[in-house]
Amino acid sequence: MTRPWTDAARPVEDRVRDLLAAMTLEEKVGQLAQVANPEPERDAAALAAGAFGTCIVASGEHAGNVRDAGTQAAAVNALQRAAVEGSRLGIPLLVARDVIHGHRTVFPIPLGQAASFDPELVRECARAAAREASADGVRWTFAPMLDVSMDPRWGRVAESWGEDPWLSAVLGAAAVEGFQGGPGGSALADAESLAACAKHYVGYGLAQGGRDYAEVDVGPVTLHNRHLRPFRAAVDAGVATVMSAFHTLDGLPMTAHRPLVREHLKGDLGFAGPVVSDWDAVGELVLHGVAADRRDAAALALGAGVDIDMVTGAYGTHLAELVRDGLLDPALVEDAARRVLTLKMRLGLFEAPYTDPGRAAAVQLTAGHRALARRAAASAVVVLRNEGALPLDAPDLGHVHVTGPFASARAELLGTWTLDGRAEDVVTIADAVRERLGGGPGGPGGATGTTVTVDDARFLDETLIQARAADVVVACVGEHPMRSGEANSVTSLELPPGQTELLEALARVSRRLVVVVLTGRPLALERLAHLGDAVVLAFHPGTEGGHGIVDVLTGDVPASGRLPVSLPWTTGQVPLHHDHLPTGRPLDPDGPAGRYRDHRDTPQHPFGFGLGHGEVTYGPPSLSATTLGPGQDVEVTATVTNAGSLPVVERVQLYVRVRLGRVSRPVSELAGVRTVELEPGASAAVTFTLGYADLGYRDARGVLECVPGPVDVRIAPHAGAGAAVRLELLDGDAPGPSTGTRPAVSAGTGARGGDA
Ligand code: GLC
Repeated sequence: MTRPWTDAARPVEDRVRDLLAAMTLEEKVGQLAQVANPEPERDAAALAAGAFGTCIVASGEHAGNVRDAGTQAAAVNALQRAAVEGSRLGIPLLVARDVIHGHRTVFPIPLGQAASFDPELVRECARAAAREASADGVRWTFAPMLDVSMDPRWGRVAESWGEDPWLSAVLGAAAVEGFQGGPGGSALADAESLAACAKHYVGYGLAQGGRDYAEVDVGPVTLHNRHLRPFRAAVDAGVATVMSAFHTLDGLPMTAHRPLVREHLKGDLGFAGPVVSDWDAVGELVLHGVAADRRDAAALALGAGVDIDMVTGAYGTHLAELVRDGLLDPALVEDAARRVLTLKMRLGLFEAPYTDPGRAAAVQLTAGHRALARRAAASAVVVLRNEGALPLDAPDLGHVHVTGPFASARAELLGTWTLDGRAEDVVTIADAVRERLGGGPGGPGGATGTTVTVDDARFLDETLIQARAADVVVACVGEHPMRSGEANSVTSLELPPGQTELLEALARVSRRLVVVVLTGRPLALERLAHLGDAVVLAFHPGTEGGHGIVDVLTGDVPASGRLPVSLPWTTGQVPLHHDHLPTGRPLDPDGPAGRYRDHRDTPQHPFGFGLGHGEVTYGPPSLSATTLGPGQDVEVTATVTNAGSLPVVERVQLYVRVRLGRVSRPVSELAGVRTVELEPGASAAVTFTLGYADLGYRDARGVLECVPGPVDVRIAPHAGAGAAVRLELLDGDAPGPSTGTRPAVSAGTGARGGDA
């Protein structure tokens, strides 16, 4: 049989058309089935029959926190050979894995990468992860997760880019481009590229009570402006696939949500790739109580626009029969199969289905990837308080004692959703302190006259003796990664039991106490407000975590991490986010602390906050024009000065507040970030460009519109600071097409705020 679809010189759509014409209904349905961990021998008959078109290598339904044997190219090649050489039409498999924040080299969890406010860094980390995972035969990752996280009790905040829609859109798009090798999916055929997956469509970050999988209730205006925004940006960036979420949205499970999946994502937004369900989510429609059985669930999910059934088996068992019984339109199967086959061809799998087994050793855990992981780890560190304790850069620090449960922790630094990273690769905090300060191996010979001792505070009496004798104590506490990630929500955001007491005991005897808090989520650190001389938050930092943290503690790397989430004083305050609405009774900043009788309304540390190793001052913002009309841009500039004695890396943030709208607008919207490096005493004029459409807002139908009126613009170090300058938005036609599709503007990286 000739196979015209294998001619790579022909247009993909022609090749797919020819292939579909040659396929039976069963073979088309096979492309819509995804199985977990298939084996060439055990599954030979299924592979020969083309009974499944994609597979996931995973340890199970809570893959995020359960380690498995990992992925090897040889095993994947054996599977691929059985599919390509054993099946009638030789259609290659597409192999997927959760490559969330690294592969063999593990980068900080996405929430930690978000603390960098740096899309280029995120892009580089995703590219490195793709390079490593593709060498093991993986060509599809279930990342980036784009859920705007509204409740830190929810364990999956760890996988998110935080609470802000603009930041989630910009960093999510950067991750897509990193995984896929460039914008628009243009480099998908590169053997090092992975198909990315925008997940979990949509609104998962609103799970009620922070309880994973719980119901979500959200109105269309909030959905369009906050939760759909990162998905629009991912579609604009050419994301190859989308994953529908587990939860119900206003009572309808996303796996069966035709209005948002088939009509909005595929219709309004024009998404042309396949939508994959989440793990067994098709089968779970029965448990949601919207499908009588799996046959009913299969029809419902495919009709809603879900093209691939992850591991339930409902599509493979029922779709052909539903079509033959006249209960399912065969065009739906055809369209879904077309999306899957088109993706496989764009990935080049028909021309090159196999992976070079020798590539893994050459590209995984290289010095270059370690250096990138170290730089990313340092950017995931946020200095919350520093009473002159940092940087630890004096040559004669004397005796430094490192203690606490994370002092010598390895696997725990990797964070949740680490599947192929290895504990033995991790640089611990204690290793890094010894190396940098104590003359340990690999270090610069150690600071003269400095000795380093280490324990894990298991024997607190001994620890306190050491702490009393030491000149500096570095206490490494925080939450275990098993406390975040999928199905790992919590009811308390305080430090785990016993850790605050440990810090209080250390504070009583330490001359200089530096507290390092490792975490997968925002924590309520009220009891640390006056504990110790410095408090540093490190979102689980990955393989090079020890180096990255110590680079910041010693000032070898300027502290540049900024909070991608608000830090509450106490759990009772959540949800708490910077872009809240003003209400009809806004808080008087000089008035009472707020509406709670027992606490303040405001966060302990606001979104965007983080200290550098010195003082940075911001001049008032100025505008290139005081009005902005349709099709126009305005430049906003402020002078930023390093008033300290050490170099700084400043994440300069642009915030807007549109004071008049058809609906109430947030009191603070992040619209741009610029990174500026300043030597001591230096100043820089930082300019952002704001376009008319950047100040628009979407109505309940998702149509972007601008309402004339006053806009306050700030250039600031975080959401809670900065003087505003007044801009007047002029009247004009809706900046975007009236059909509700996206306007020309897409999320920028700060030069232009952008709506996505
Ligand atoms: C999990 C997660 C999803 C992941 C998938 C495959 O349950 O919800 O994020 O990609 O299943 O492991």
